[in-house]
Amino acid sequence: MGSVQVCDLKQHVGQPVVLKGWLYNRRGSGKLLFLQFRDGSGIVQCVVSKADVPEAVFETAKRIGIETSLVIHGKASEDKRSSLGVEIHVTDLTVIGESKDYPIQITEDVPNIDKLLDQRHLWVRSRIPHAILRVRSEVVQAIRDFYYNKGFVLFDAPMFTPASCEGTSTLFEVPYFESTAYLSQSGQLYGEAGALAFGKVVVFGPTFRAEKSKTRRHLTEFWMVEPEVAFLELDGVMDLAEEQMRYVISRALERCKEELKVLERNTATLEQISKPFPRVSYDDIQQLLQKLKAEYAASPDAELQKLSKDILKGGLGDDLGAADETAIGMHFQQCVMVHRYPRHVKAFYMKKDPANDKRALCVDVIAPEGVGEIIGGSQREDSLDELLAQIEHHKVPMESINWFVDLRRYGSVPHGGFGMGVERCVQWITGAQHVRETIPFPRTIYRLNP
Ligand code: 4AD
Ligand code: MG
Repeated sequence: MGSVQVCDLKQHVGQPVVLKGWLYNRRGSGKLLFLQFRDGSGIVQCVVSKADVPEAVFETAKRIGIETSLVIHGKASEDKRSSLGVEIHVTDLTVIGESKDYPIQITEDVPNIDKLLDQRHLWVRSRIPHAILRVRSEVVQAIRDFYYNKGFVLFDAPMFTPASCEGTSTLFEVPYFESTAYLSQSGQLYGEAGALAFGKVVVFGPTFRAEKSKTRRHLTEFWMVEPEVAFLELDGVMDLAEEQMRYVISRALERCKEELKVLERNTATLEQISKPFPRVSYDDIQQLLQKLKAEYAASPDAELQKLSKDILKGGLGDDLGAADETAIGMHFQQCVMVHRYPRHVKAFYMKKDPANDKRALCVDVIAPEGVGEIIGGSQREDSLDELLAQIEHHKVPMESINWFVDLRRYGSVPHGGFGMGVERCVQWITGAQHVRETIPFPRTIYRLNP
């Protein structure tokens, strides 16, 4: 008899079944054991009754350690009390691989994330990581479907690169034969070559940044999806970012209901995704932040007073910080697009705003609930002379970027795109405290293991 997956058990009520998986937890003693059995697709309660099985089987079921791998023979019966709706009455049980002194306590799912991350290779078997990583899987598939259905060409960018895309302060250097390579901070520059070749492309892969800060939103290795489109200007970039966010979030809400239930996620704010995203200029946001800073300072709520101190910390005219983004999220309670930041806080490739040469034609999408910037994008500088001036101003070595400048020498067109960090998106959907929990094996300044 072939084995059945736990997720399909409902269709087998009343029938004998074979299950292959692992012991997740166990209760009971005496004459009745309740094994929580997992196979990756779900968890089912398996009842072992001393009266119904040979003595040796009962003793094995009683003795084996958590995470022992097993083959279980039994009968599937309806169980209205469990969320699965099915339980198994065990008739036989075979141990495949022993597991003694499993180092993770099931009840430890929530506390001490750092200790659990030391056991990440095992912790991924538990319910909470399971739910978060299943949401991640759905998000990645939603992203792929979204761009595929819109006719974008997948255009993979290299990981070893000769130049920085997002400034030199977060570059990872790698010895590369006789010279030095840098791990890619973003595939965008290559995406631009792709856009001028195919019209619309999407780069999707891991990116690397030597982030020295230990925040709840930074990894040193994260996945970014980066669409890039020829003849797309800033408004079009914003339209695309909004449409993509709406698609991805709606799809996770629709297809990850079980996971979000396990995570006890209140989805009210996520559901605002169907409303148009406010589009607010950087200058208007600065005014709003001044107002919020004063309001929160006068509030009786100690949390808000604390936040108030950090709002506009860099002063007016600086880049937005985490507190600014948190305040923006609290105010709007939905995704907000902040556009036209000062050029001096943004990357060299962004197009100058023709209406104000101190501003860039760029946009950040800020997610609510403390997640902050989830997307960064812009219209690109398409003028050869302007780009050369920026390259010089930012001291980007010409020999490593000359190929990119060619894109302005041979049939330059207005174009633009953006990058969304997959982990930040999953963090928002799942309500995970830290982006570390949204990738199977997180990399941060303090973590290279396991
Ligand atoms: O705003 P960023 O730096 O933009 C770029 O890299 C552009 N070249 C993208 C483009 O236009 N094609 O990064 C884009 C997004 C951020 O909004 C954030 O979601 C994510 O990447 N991100 C990080 N996620 C986790 N850990 C980090 N250290 C991240 N840095 C950026
Ligand atoms: Mg950014």
